[in-house]
Amino acid sequence: NVEGKTVFLRADLDVPLTQQTTNNSPAGEAGKQQTTIEDDTRLKASIPTIEYLLKNNAKVVIGGHLGRPKGINKSLSLEPVAHWFVKKLIHNSEFIIHNSKLASFEGWEIGPSIFLLENLRFYAGEEANDPEFAKKLANLAQIYVNDAFAMSHRNHASIVEITKFLPHFAGLHLEKEISVLSKAFQNPRRPLAVVIGGKKIETKLPLVAKMYSIADYVLVGGKIAQEHKEFLKIEHQKINPPADAKSDLADGRKAILLVADLNEQGTGILENSLNNFIEIIERAKTIIWNGTMGKIENNGDFNHATKKIAEAIIKTKSYSVVGGGDTTEFLRKRGIINKFSFASTGGGAMLAFLSGEKLPGLVALEK
Ligand code: 3PG
Repeated sequence: NVEGKTVFLRADLDVPLTQQTTNNSPAGEAGKQQTTIEDDTRLKASIPTIEYLLKNNAKVVIGGHLGRPKGINKSLSLEPVAHWFVKKLIHNSEFIIHNSKLASFEGWEIGPSIFLLENLRFYAGEEANDPEFAKKLANLAQIYVNDAFAMSHRNHASIVEITKFLPHFAGLHLEKEISVLSKAFQNPRRPLAVVIGGKKIETKLPLVAKMYSIADYVLVGGKIAQEHKEFLKIEHQKINPPADAKSDLADGRKAILLVADLNEQGTGILENSLNNFIEIIERAKTIIWNGTMGKIENNGDFNHATKKIAEAIIKTKSYSVVGGGDTTEFLRKRGIINKFSFASTGGGAMLAFLSGEKLPGLVALEK
């Protein structure tokens, strides 16, 4: 019952942004900095819960983070996200957004019932899971809702410690992620291939190591494939593709790990590795994919392998789950995201959940 109460909603606001400076005006005024949200999927995912809370006459304080700032960093302000929420939720073209404060927190009023807090990672207490900071956040509301599945693998104040101070619940989006991912991977059709690439290596490496418990094949490409030394420590069975790759995983045998060879600059995987990956993907009945196979910041050659992997997965008609900001942005921009069985908003969180890890954010909700 949220009627008349204030709810702290931990949402997933970590969206890809691009910043551009406009040209100087003819009158000589300096160009302005313009920020664009490249993919708003994560923001859209929070809307059903926000609408539910508003419909039930609650006030909502939205908290979230953007990027990895060390202290205050205006280029990672949530202001563009505040504008996005205004457009989406306030149907009044005269509404003007302005900086405001809620207790000691900076942020923005999004109409009469919503307050968006500035990037929580501007405060050291957030990543430190600091009880004092969590208490300050908790003091802003009477109920806590976590709708940030993509963040639930982090032991941070607005995800974990805050639940000690408020009655706590899962949001509608978080609930959906958990229910789809749990059902699909209870008894997956095999072979099951996990494809891992992209950035955030320190998060993904331990998860590659854990994947043998669910996967038949683990395919590693992109920047993460550079960490050869780390892969030597992993206990999967390593093979030289493609000879061995033809046989399925027999009971009790560990997953087969293939690590792609990269080009000299380390910006993309080599054709030979790509072909080996595709060969395995073609045989898989269930596929989990997180992370691009090369740099996607620049268009061109680096996108080639990621595109080929996407096409190969789509062609298989296997049960396919894709996650991670860069990967889903890549697929969405090409209009092919709907060809996957499920797109998760989580990157590291999705991999961690599927590998059987207990996510701190979910454990906190259960207590
Ligand atoms: C993500 O994009 O995976 C989440 O927003 C978590 O971000 P982090 O890896 O910076 O903690």
